[in-house]
This record gives sequence, C-alpha cells and structure tokens, in this order.
Amino acid sequence: MGARLERLLRRADDLLLVAEVPPRGIVGWLHAAEQELLEAGRRCEILGLVVDAEYRGQGLGRLLVDAAEGWAKARGLGLMAVRSNVARSESHPFYERLGYARVKTQHAYRKHLPGSAA
Ligand SMILES: CC(C)(COP(=O)(O)OP(=O)(O)OC[C@H]1O[C@@H](n2cnc3c(N)ncnc32)[C@H](O)[C@@H]1OP(=O)(O)O)[C@@H](O)C(=O)NCCC(=O)NCCS
Repeated sequence: MGARLERLLRRADDLLLVAEVPPRGIVGWLHAAEQELLEAGRRCEILGLVVDAEYRGQGLGRLLVDAAEGWAKARGLGLMAVRSNVARSESHPFYERLGYARVKTQHAYRKHLPGSAA
C-alpha cells in the first residue's frame, strides 16, 4: 500500500485526503480521481472512502466527500460518481444523505493476468 500511495500522490488527477483526529491520528481517508469517459465525458469518481468504525457518525465521511467535491468543482467538473458495494450497506444511506442518487446496479467482472504485478 505504501508503494501505491507514493505513486498515487505523484498523480495530478488523483486526490488523496485524510481525516485526522489528534491525538489518535488518521481515522479516515478518501481517494478520488478525475476521469474522462469516451461516452460520458469528465467527472470525479470516489474510488475509496473509509472512516474508522469508532469514529463513524461524527461527520468525518461528509467532510471528506465535501472536500472531494470542492476539489472537483475547482477543476471544472460537474459530476461526482461513486460505486458502492451492495455489501457496504452503511454507505448507501450515507451517500443518499449527501445528495447522491442511485442510478444503476452492475455486475463487476475481473480476470487475473498471469505474470503481471499488482
Ligand atoms: C460510509 C462511511 C464512510 C460514512 O462515514 P461517517 O463518518 O460515519 O459519515 P458521517 O458521520 O459524515 O455521516 C454523514 C451523513 O450520513 C448519515 N449516515 C452515515 N451513515 C449512515 C447510516 N449507516 N445510516 C443512515 N445514515 C447514515 C449521517 O447520519 C449523516 O447525516 P447528517 O449529516 O444529516 O446528520 C463509513 O460508514 C464507512 O467508512 N463505512 C465502511 C466503508 C464504506 O462503506 N465506504 C464506502 C465505500 S464506497
């Protein structure tokens, strides 16, 4: 994860944010990125968001998403997107509370390629 973080921090189109509560330290993080889709144009997608279970319900998730929206706006993006696992049931009312509308349900497919690095 350290190596991934180093690479991501160097990318101008990726955003990494942390929520820090002293003296505990980092209790939440968000990863988002600007994307351009051939079919749908430019947008900001939230690719990862976690708040430590002990610190949920205190507004930290909202603060992280608000900051990502501010970053996206400053880049001239007009659309936020996020894909949320159906098993992450706590995130569904969270995103709806923040004004996100559920637009579709998808199947996710993956294929491991032999010999490739993570
Ligand atoms: C989803 C998650 C990030 C929310 O973080 P959080 O810090 O608890 O959220 P907040 O306290 O900022 O909540 C913001 C709003 O959503 C509401 N909300 C949050 N979780 C909720 C839940 N489980 N049920 C109903 N409402 C919820 C809050 O009541 C709050 O509303 P308000 O501001 O009007 O009072 C957190 O639960 C988490 O890390 N879950 C595990 C990982 C995950 O699912 N990540 C999302 C992957 S896409």
